[in-house]
Amino acid sequence: MNKIKIRKAVFPVAGLGSRFLPATKAQPKEMLPVVDKPLIQYAVEEAVAAGITEMIFITGRNKRAIEDHFDTAYELEAELEAAQKFALLELIQNVLPKNITCIYIRQSAPLGLGHAVLCARPVVGNEPFAVLLADDFMDVTDDQQPVLAQMTDVYAREGVSILAVNEVPLADTRQYGIVSVIPFKTDLDHVQQIVEKPLPENAPSTLAVVGRYVLDNSIFKHLEGLGQGAGGEIQLTDGIAAMLREQSVLAYRYQGQRYDCGSKLGYLKATVAMGRKHPETGAAFSEYLKNNV
Ligand code: G1P
Repeated sequence: MNKIKIRKAVFPVAGLGSRFLPATKAQPKEMLPVVDKPLIQYAVEEAVAAGITEMIFITGRNKRAIEDHFDTAYELEAELEAAQKFALLELIQNVLPKNITCIYIRQSAPLGLGHAVLCARPVVGNEPFAVLLADDFMDVTDDQQPVLAQMTDVYAREGVSILAVNEVPLADTRQYGIVSVIPFKTDLDHVQQIVEKPLPENAPSTLAVVGRYVLDNSIFKHLEGLGQGAGGEIQLTDGIAAMLREQSVLAYRYQGQRYDCGSKLGYLKATVAMGRKHPETGAAFSEYLKNNV
């Protein structure tokens, strides 16, 4: 496989967000803020930090706020300018660097993550690409690279598909794609098997895939031939399992902290972590936690 630079990222954002109702009745779950930025912006910034310039969003009904967020907001800009609120004006004008292109594709039916990724095929073309699930919020310390940049570095060396993995409690295997691996290098293993959401008693290990992938283009061919998998959906995991029969896939133990912002508890934890780090709230919030929690 040729080592081509990863230029494109796919963000499947068509999901309903039913775990956050009623907050997500009229707004996308990806627009829920962690302190002052929506989840989707953190994910896009992570892709930008990995050198990606084309952001491909697989959207659905009720997701227009995501398009608006990454677009120019004329009225708001005019009002901030008139009020001479230049710092805020700059903030909203620079949600994205100027060299980034956003492309939106509608997934007309909720047929699963694999189907969502397949919807990106006409825009991805023949290149390898990244997939980011915005509700997997990835935090890193100052001395760590953002997680997707860690993965594109690994890709640049190895030239094969890379999955971000993390150990989870045995009782939680039914929430994840689970891999079994053969040791390869530090933090990097060969995937031997991958199964979507196995029951603990059937799980090949407790090593779970989290929402960051760098994928060889042949994944599309494999997704195309798939039927319904776990939960009656077309699963990305099953596409990866099919790809694995033809080429190697690596499981990468990333550096960083993942918060499951698809769940209320994970979202609260992410909010606390980011609230403590935020330049405006960090000191006062940490003090508050120390005295009140
Ligand atoms: C999806 C994938 C699963 C993966 C998980 C990571 O599941 O299907 O393989 O482990 O994301 O968050 P979902 O959380 O959309 O049910």
